[in-house]
Amino acid sequence: MPPPFSPLFYLPYFPPLLLLFYALLLLRQHRRLPGEPPVLFSPLPFLGSALSFGKDPLAFLRAASAALGASVFTVVLAGERTTFFSDPADWPPLLRTSPAVLRFDTISADTGAAFGLLPATKERLFYGEGGRETHAQFAKFLSQPEHLSEMTARAASHLSSSLAELANSPPFPLVAILSPIVYAASMHALLEPGHPLCARYDLFAAYDKSFPLLVAGAPLAFFPAAKKALDAMASLLLASPAGPASACSALMRARYELFVDRLSIPLPQNAYSQVPIVWAAAANTVPACIWALLYTLSHPSAHDAVAAECRASPAEPDYDAMPVLHSVIMETLRVESSSITVRRVAAGGHVTKAGVQLRGGDRVALFPPLKHFDPELFEEPEEWRWDRFLGEGEKLAKEVMPFGGGVSYCPGRHFALREIKAFLCAVFKAVDVELVGSAGGVRRDEARVGLGVNQVRPGDDVLVKVKAL
Ligand code: HEM
Repeated sequence: MPPPFSPLFYLPYFPPLLLLFYALLLLRQHRRLPGEPPVLFSPLPFLGSALSFGKDPLAFLRAASAALGASVFTVVLAGERTTFFSDPADWPPLLRTSPAVLRFDTISADTGAAFGLLPATKERLFYGEGGRETHAQFAKFLSQPEHLSEMTARAASHLSSSLAELANSPPFPLVAILSPIVYAASMHALLEPGHPLCARYDLFAAYDKSFPLLVAGAPLAFFPAAKKALDAMASLLLASPAGPASACSALMRARYELFVDRLSIPLPQNAYSQVPIVWAAAANTVPACIWALLYTLSHPSAHDAVAAECRASPAEPDYDAMPVLHSVIMETLRVESSSITVRRVAAGGHVTKAGVQLRGGDRVALFPPLKHFDPELFEEPEEWRWDRFLGEGEKLAKEVMPFGGGVSYCPGRHFALREIKAFLCAVFKAVDVELVGSAGGVRRDEARVGLGVNQVRPGDDVLVKVKAL
């Protein structure tokens, strides 16, 4: 037997101690207090059910609800106890709950680290006056008709000129060629036309690639390529700032004035503070345009209806009066958007309308695909039907929730819908376009499901043939 001062002496105690530690961790993770929802068991401390959730969130949530016999249940996901409400009937009261009870500002602030924001910047930007003002600016500059029209016109003009240039090209890969064009259109709308960031889809893509892990809390320093791209984006915003002399959108000018003059966010952090809106303006719109076009091209009746509506529209279309495009886009977002809406429970003891008690510090989550793929709401929900929201179906569109809801309801939704319509118009007005082969080779990137509009799996693409009209 080794002497007591030797580490070997204690070796036999290690396994039972480890076992005890493991049991305590599991107990802490799964403890259910009276009134709280059931907790889904996972043998993995900290990580919990993150891997099975990540593989197929919809199937996972349906199975968890069935296994626990409850529509409200708690799941451990990467260290976060997250209470899912799987019955959409519970969502409206939750989304209306005061942000002092179910907080979103702390969730935004956590995301701020993914954009290289320092704690002092996050404090000024997401809480108090900074938080209130940025939201008031979104509401004003992304909703008022004159600002919306200006931004849409700038995006549309870039889309039309870029797509007209493609009119006589040989067959090209749709995803690889059109994604940078949509990205540039979003940047032209937000920043001044010709801003150096407009041509840097490569930077956006290099940063966005690591976004799922960054937003889950992994430090930026672990992703040198994403950090380099983020720093380069901030440098370009620093070199050509959205200041008073710039011809950028009114939104960007107002943000610059707020960050620099009123919140006194120092350089270079005030440039980093603009990156989240730059990212938000492109991250969902780019894949939404790509999916809308792919689905349209692979359904001949959709192709004909979309082409007819676009070609019959005037040079400056009234995007609010294009029912076919609206139906095609809402159907695409129904099938391909999967954003989770998350809130943080401010303090324990809150009992929801569904009668469950929430624990302070836990997260509450809603997953819109539970609604989007509900056969009682949408007939044959797995099928993409371009005319689902036409005629009588129009009122069903309110059941589609690609833009979240409540305090974090996407402020860019009006602009996004117009921009996607402008994209389809630009394509179908410029060219006759046809898939070479099947769109089946373009699959969704399952690793990103849950983070907005689904992305195309890296490397997947399909050739298209275009002919000038
Ligand atoms: C198809 C396109 C789009 C989709 C599906 C989409 C979806 C969403 C969703 C689901 C959220 C809420 C996130 C959450 O609850 O955590 C959100 C937030 C946001 N979106 Fe969008 N979005 C789109 C386009 C845009 C565009 C074009 C802009 C800006 C020009 C934009 C700006 C924002 C901003 C600033 C927020 C944060 C709001 C806040 O802090 O409360 N989005 N978006």
